[in-house]
Amino acid sequence: MPDYRAAAEAQREELQARRRDFHQHPELSFQEIRTAGIVAEELQALGMEVQTGVGKTGVVAILEGAQDGPTVLVRADMDALPIQEETAAEYASLHDGVMHACGHDGHTTIALGVAKLLSEHRDRLRGRVKFVFQPAEELGAGAQAMCEDGVLEDPRPDVTLGLHLWNTMPVGTIGIATGPTFAAVSIFEITVTGRGGHGALPHETRDPIVAAAQLVGALQSICSRDVPAADQAVLSVTSFNAGTAYNIIPPAAKLTGTMRNFSPKIRDLITRRFYEICAGIGSAMACKVDAKMTHLTDPVVNDAATTERVRTAIQRAAPSVILDEDERTMGGEDVGLFMTDIPGTYFLVGSANEERGLNFGHHHPRFDFDEECLPIGVTTLAAAVGEFLLPD
Ligand code: NI
Repeated sequence: MPDYRAAAEAQREELQARRRDFHQHPELSFQEIRTAGIVAEELQALGMEVQTGVGKTGVVAILEGAQDGPTVLVRADMDALPIQEETAAEYASLHDGVMHACGHDGHTTIALGVAKLLSEHRDRLRGRVKFVFQPAEELGAGAQAMCEDGVLEDPRPDVTLGLHLWNTMPVGTIGIATGPTFAAVSIFEITVTGRGGHGALPHETRDPIVAAAQLVGALQSICSRDVPAADQAVLSVTSFNAGTAYNIIPPAAKLTGTMRNFSPKIRDLITRRFYEICAGIGSAMACKVDAKMTHLTDPVVNDAATTERVRTAIQRAAPSVILDEDERTMGGEDVGLFMTDIPGTYFLVGSANEERGLNFGHHHPRFDFDEECLPIGVTTLAAAVGEFLLPD
């Protein structure tokens, strides 16, 4: 077994420099031109066969081992967010209104580090690693685009592995649960149409605000009263728009929101109740209710046997990290598409450091992480891949 930790430690400065460079030059979903260019160049320099423009701006590279064996897909996402950075970091974003506020700069850096580490063991590698640098995770669209471009074929992966930096967990902790770890994501839009009129004469109107307000309340009863308490689900109304003036009842109101869960059964239950409640309140309040629920991504489900092997590999390679086998989130991740019919493990790498103020949540303008997580990420992800491809 290679000394993964020593090899990752040797990359420490390079990892930090690379991450800071990506952080200063964030690119939005499907615009990861510079990032993809650096990734492709690095992988080519390591002697890999590189394919660019997969799923618009994605990069795929194969590290072919000297001996035959399985194919392990390693996935990293590359995109940033439309957020104005508010950290005072010396490596803060140079692009107004665009920021790496989810840690994907770290993911790309770590996967490049893993590619470098494993390419040094190519002569002993039994099988191959398919490195997948994905665009547009934040839109929930990049994995789909890459799948449409055939990323899961030729060769088809036998195992999918990946990681996400996690700022609600201290650096030095790894979250690695069996089963669902990221939730299925749905979004919804509701338009309530009534009849507008004078605020002083509501009896001459059909007030869409009153109907929409009842919808907000009633939709909350789905998770508290329809979903079994042992199942996890979230439904949030996140925007409510109606009206223009203090004395006008508007003709319509619009609501949008999101719904999260871990299983198709619960997703179907919530969806059914969502439409029933929309129709019921529409008819009770004599307003027209147009509702639409759209399912965006499936849950990320960690395969039990694969995950057990990854845990063991991580413990051997990095005995000092703490494994948290319960960490899961209602957040969404489209890596699940690479794990639908392929066993996989997607784990969380703690990246917070409260003492240094590096514990703002993902997608916060002050999000930043403890770069100590970079060598830890390289060690653990490389060891996870090695578990399947590098014999002792
Ligand atoms: Ni993310």
